[in-house]
Amino acid sequence: MPAQVRLRAQSPQREPASNDGVLLAGVTRIYRDDRGAAVQALAGVSLAVAHGEVLAVVGPSGCGKTTLLELICCLQAPDAGTIACAPAVLMPQRDLLLPWLSAAENAALALRVAGCSRSQARARASALFEELGLGGFEDARPQELSGGMRQRVAFLRTLLAGKPVLCLDEPFGALDAITRGEMQGWLSQTLARAPRTVVLVTHDVEEAIVLGDRIAVLSPRPGRVIEELEVDLPRPRARTDAEVGSLRERALLALGMAKRT
Ligand SMILES: Nc1ncnc2c1ncn2[C@@H]1O[C@H](COP(=O)(O)OP(=O)(O)OP(=O)(O)O)[C@@H](O)[C@H]1O
Ligand SMILES: [Mg+2]
Repeated sequence: MPAQVRLRAQSPQREPASNDGVLLAGVTRIYRDDRGAAVQALAGVSLAVAHGEVLAVVGPSGCGKTTLLELICCLQAPDAGTIACAPAVLMPQRDLLLPWLSAAENAALALRVAGCSRSQARARASALFEELGLGGFEDARPQELSGGMRQRVAFLRTLLAGKPVLCLDEPFGALDAITRGEMQGWLSQTLARAPRTVVLVTHDVEEAIVLGDRIAVLSPRPGRVIEELEVDLPRPRARTDAEVGSLRERALLALGMAKRT
């Protein structure tokens, strides 16, 4: 049984979701150090993500976005509130590739852990390398890849974990604007072909609109949900679409980054 499932069973505040969705009710997280000092990261966060829905989460730096994803992925436990969630995998903010493995081996890591043979795991990972613009780099070590390429390998590793819920922590944050646009298009198409429940943390409000079905805007720390915006726009969406511009204004207003007229 995977470690993640064991952790769920041990925590009284966790229940498996019956429908591959995510449900958080009144979730609070307070970090405490050895001297008793406390930092409250999240305060009473309630959010529902339906099966196959993409929830984008935006908020100022330090408002608890990474904490939220780690809670959903069972990497930490809430201090109050409840979380019901299907098995979830985290793509961390930093790529955390293993330097002694090749790019293909890094991408295939979860498959190997799940018991897939080396050759099968490599074949499944390599099949996606071309699609991500990584063709020919299967045997490269992470230190031989650019930052953007490393991030794409990390993204592939997350996808290949095969969990129903993907938690993506600023997955394209380190990419240049052109590559980021390409990756957003690729993710959008991938999810259209094979929908997954996704919680996508991003600093980029336009990215949230282009990729999300809904956007949760968090307050400064301790993070609370201050606004939820439906993104009821046809796909594919472009940053230059007029409706994207007006939703962007609403999200920026909620974040306090635009002037009210
Ligand atoms: N392991 C930890 N121990 C103590 N405090 C922590 C820990 N992890 C996060 N924090 C604190 O909790 C708060 C929220 O951190 P978190 O990393 O969740 O924010 P974030 O919204 O992801 O920020 P960023 O946008 O900069 O990535 C911060 O004040 C941070 O200092
Ligand atoms: Mg973070």
